Amino acid sequence: MDTNVRPESMARITTIELANQFIDEQVKAVREQVKDGKVLLALSGGVDSSVVAALLIKAIGKQLTCVHVNHGLMRKDESENVVKIFGSELDANLVYVDATDRFLDLLAGVSDPERKRKIIGAEFINVFADEARKLQGVEFLAQGTIYPDILESIKQAEGKKAVKSHHNVGGLPEDLNFKLVEPIKLLFKDEVRVVGEALGLPHGMVYRQPFPGPGLGVRCLGAITRDRLHALREADAILRDEFSKNGLAEKVWQYFIAIPDIKSVGVKDESRYEGWPAIIRAVNTKDAMSATIEEIPYAVLHKITARITEEVEGINRVLYDLTPKPTGTIEWE
Ligand code: XMP
Repeated sequence: MDTNVRPESMARITTIELANQFIDEQVKAVREQVKDGKVLLALSGGVDSSVVAALLIKAIGKQLTCVHVNHGLMRKDESENVVKIFGSELDANLVYVDATDRFLDLLAGVSDPERKRKIIGAEFINVFADEARKLQGVEFLAQGTIYPDILESIKQAEGKKAVKSHHNVGGLPEDLNFKLVEPIKLLFKDEVRVVGEALGLPHGMVYRQPFPGPGLGVRCLGAITRDRLHALREADAILRDEFSKNGLAEKVWQYFIAIPDIKSVGVKDESRYEGWPAIIRAVNTKDAMSATIEEIPYAVLHKITARITEEVEGINRVLYDLTPKPTGTIEWE
């Protein structure tokens, strides 16, 4: 039997009861697979890796070590939340690595989006592999692979070309010869969320909007600078705050800010004020292959504009991108 094929008889996990049943089965399967072995997991804080972490903590407790790599391209408070939830509340073995300088130094002056992605992907593996080598006797690597990832790799093996290279975790170096633990690899995203809820993870983490592996790196357009990245992070936090307060967070599939590497002339306190524009993107989609634009009430757009231009140093305009996919893609890079 190919364990990468979802059996037709497998019921869709739509309720907490079904999720609990799935969790019990996986807890048993993981214990049988790893016995008293040690397991390592790259914990990004996204839904998939968080659900795997919570599931493995339940199954094998301190035999699991989670490594959270902060590449400096996370959204505001995101790494802090991972540390709070997994390190403090769930009492996991958590290694937190602040690799901000390593990533930003490598990215300095690099403007091509695919090169940026490759640098971020490769450095992520370097940092993670460095941490893995420091830990003794780890035999297993857990991964948050889900069923669409498996379907996507089948498509790629068939030679279908992707528009962007979405590789987040590429192959690890050969000396790290791990056996894989992939407890949610037959689940679709909506099922992963139900399992996450059944495991007691916070709602905001389980229903988090998709966030690309290269993070804010592909939203700080062109060559990344620390000041523009900081402005982007602050503006994005305001957008997310206003979307939550206005009931849009649950309605819109993905929403974020992108900041291009251009400045325009503005005015502040009666003086010339050159700043970047913040571009709002808010899209709905089923499968990310095509996307439509969400109609955001003008009052909300005005509020977001006022807050970003008042509160964020370096931004003097706010724009709303009305382009569907196609012809735009969801991200700007
Ligand atoms: P695009 O921009 O191709 O995005 O319309 C479709 C979906 O994929 C996400 N995205 C990425 N996810 N690594 C990822 O993990 C990437 O390099 C990447 N680029 C885009 C994007 O946020 C959207 O959800």
